[in-house]
Parts: sequence; structure tokens; C-alpha cells
Amino acid sequence: MSKATAIAHPNLAFLKYWGKRDSTLNIPINNSISMNLDAVQTVTTVEFDAALTNDEVVVLEQGGSSRARFDQRVSRHLDRLRSLAESALPARVITRNSFPAGTGFASSASGFAALTLAGAAALGLKLSERELSILARMGSGSASRSIPDGIVEWLAGDSSDTSYARQLVPPDYWALVDIAVIVSREEKKVSSSEGHELAVNSPFWPVRLETLPGKYARMSQAIRERDFSTFGRELESEAMMMHTIMMTSAHIDGESWRSGIYYWTGDTLTLVQAVQEWRAQGLQVYFTLDAGPTVHLICLEAESDTVLSAVRALAEQSGRAHWSLTVNRPGMGARLTEAHLPTP
Ligand code: DP6
Repeated sequence: MSKATAIAHPNLAFLKYWGKRDSTLNIPINNSISMNLDAVQTVTTVEFDAALTNDEVVVLEQGGSSRARFDQRVSRHLDRLRSLAESALPARVITRNSFPAGTGFASSASGFAALTLAGAAALGLKLSERELSILARMGSGSASRSIPDGIVEWLAGDSSDTSYARQLVPPDYWALVDIAVIVSREEKKVSSSEGHELAVNSPFWPVRLETLPGKYARMSQAIRERDFSTFGRELESEAMMMHTIMMTSAHIDGESWRSGIYYWTGDTLTLVQAVQEWRAQGLQVYFTLDAGPTVHLICLEAESDTVLSAVRALAEQSGRAHWSLTVNRPGMGARLTEAHLPTP
């Protein structure tokens, strides 16, 4: 087979990947934990074709139009797969996200997970889930966690072979709901790859290193035991710690002063404060944020309608008609499909 198509979901980090031990191989400082988001996905078709002179990357936009884009990062990733398969064939990559750019979901996680699986299948490589996760990680660190199903942990490891993601619990183990509130569609000014490098400049970085093993132990146990209040407290304090590190990573860079990274907007703070109020009123809801202003409200299925109504009421009362919501449950990992994307 020289053509294959894969589906993968973006994931939401509960315990964050922020800071790398090795930035070429994307080996992280710490173990991280995430959930695949079932309502958003990337579909990618890869076809190796001797008639091509170079790799071609086509990003199909929502609504059907296409944008040809030579992406070095994609081509470098194809090189990794080609070297395993001892192939020199160029490839046509067609990819489509179900979520438009700038909606607060990291397309690099689902994108590199789908590319890895489709590319490996198109080359006839027989790889285990662990091997696929390792390869996806080299494309983008968080992509390693979009390979297994459900709620996933990425073991940091200390080498490329020992740094991979595996399932912590399957998708139907715990009825968690993520209500993602997208508050802005503006492209972020600092990429996560750049942010990872800046983290060490924060005076709070040593504190993070010290507290990470305890955080990982408490959060993975809370998930296994379906202990929602312990999980929620860990989730929120982790998001705040990452954003504190981001905001305080200012430093002198050669001749100039580089300020910290502020992914929050005023709307982010409005939602964070609302969560505290809702909790005081007895609603079991917690928040987390990745590298952007989107606020993810995490609750249990039984309370998700009440949380949804509370967010909608807040949006209306405060004149935030621009907010949009996506509701996600724990999703599957990357998988193959016969439904290839059409070549434009
Ligand atoms: C804030 O995986 O996008 O979402 O490995 O450089 O591609 P690269 O970084 P990336 O970083 C994700 C950072 C985060 C936290 C997380 O997903 O754990």
C-alpha cells in the first residue's frame, strides 16, 4: 500500500508538558497527562508517489478550498518515516482539521499523530503503539499523547526509546466533560516550541521541578480512583503554575529585554473568576488552559448541562457574543480509515 489515511484528535493537557530536556528529539522534562478531545479531529492522507519531485503538503480549509503549503516540519517528519522504511519516495500529504485555525485547539498534536500513523501505514511499516508514539513525539511533543486511546500519560523517559505515551484509562472509564470556551481567534504571538525554551528563565522554575513528581503521582491516582475533587484541584493549580512560569519568563536576551508570555485575555480572567463563583455555589467545575486564552471547563457528565447553561448565561449577561463553545468527552487515539481525502 502506498496510500493511507488516519484520524487523530487534539489532546488537552491535565498535567502539562512545558520545558524540554532535549529540544531536537522533544524529550520533556516531566511526565504529562492528557485527554483526547473527541469532538475535534484531524484527517490526513499520505500517498508516496514516484511521480512527484518533492513532498507536497495540502491543507484543506473548512468549506472545501485548499491551500498548498510546503511545510518543512512535515517533510522532516516524512524523512524519519522514510529512513525507517528505507524509502526515498516523495509524498503528497493532504490534511484537514475539523476545527478552523485559531479556535484554541493545538493542531500540531492531532496533525503529527495522524501524519505518523498514515505515513507509516502508507510505507507498509508495522509499528507498535509505543513506536508510533515515539515517532509522533519527534514531530511535536504533545502528538505522542494523541496516539493511545482515552486519558493518556506520556512518560518523560531519559532517551528517545523511553519517552512515549501510553493509556492511563480507556475513554469510557470516567465520564469527564471538557467545555472549551473559545474567547479569541487571534493567532498566538509566541509558539509553544519557543515557550518551552523560555521556561527556565522563570524564578519559579526550580519550584516546578521540585513539585512535579508529587503532582504526577496525585493526579494519576485521582484519575484511576475517579476522585473528581482531588483531580480538579490538581488540574487548576497545574494550569496556574504553567501560566505563572510563562508570565514570569522575562529575561535579558543579548542586548534586549524579552518580556514574559501572556496568553491570557480579559475574557480568560472573567471565566476563571466565574469558575470560582460557580464552585462556591456548589457546582463541581474546574478550569485548565493550554498555550492560549481558551478556557477549558472540566466537569462530570451529570453536571455538564448546568455548566453549559451557566457559561451561556455569563456570555449573554456580559455581552460576550463572540465566545464559542465545543463540548468534548474522552476520545479515541489515532486510527486508520478507508475514507481517503480527495486530491484537490
Ligand atoms: C501548552 O507539543 O506544541 O500545550 O514539542 O515544540 O511541538 P513542541 O510543543 P507542543 O507543546 C504543547 C504545550 C502545551 C502543554 C501540553 O500540551 O502538555
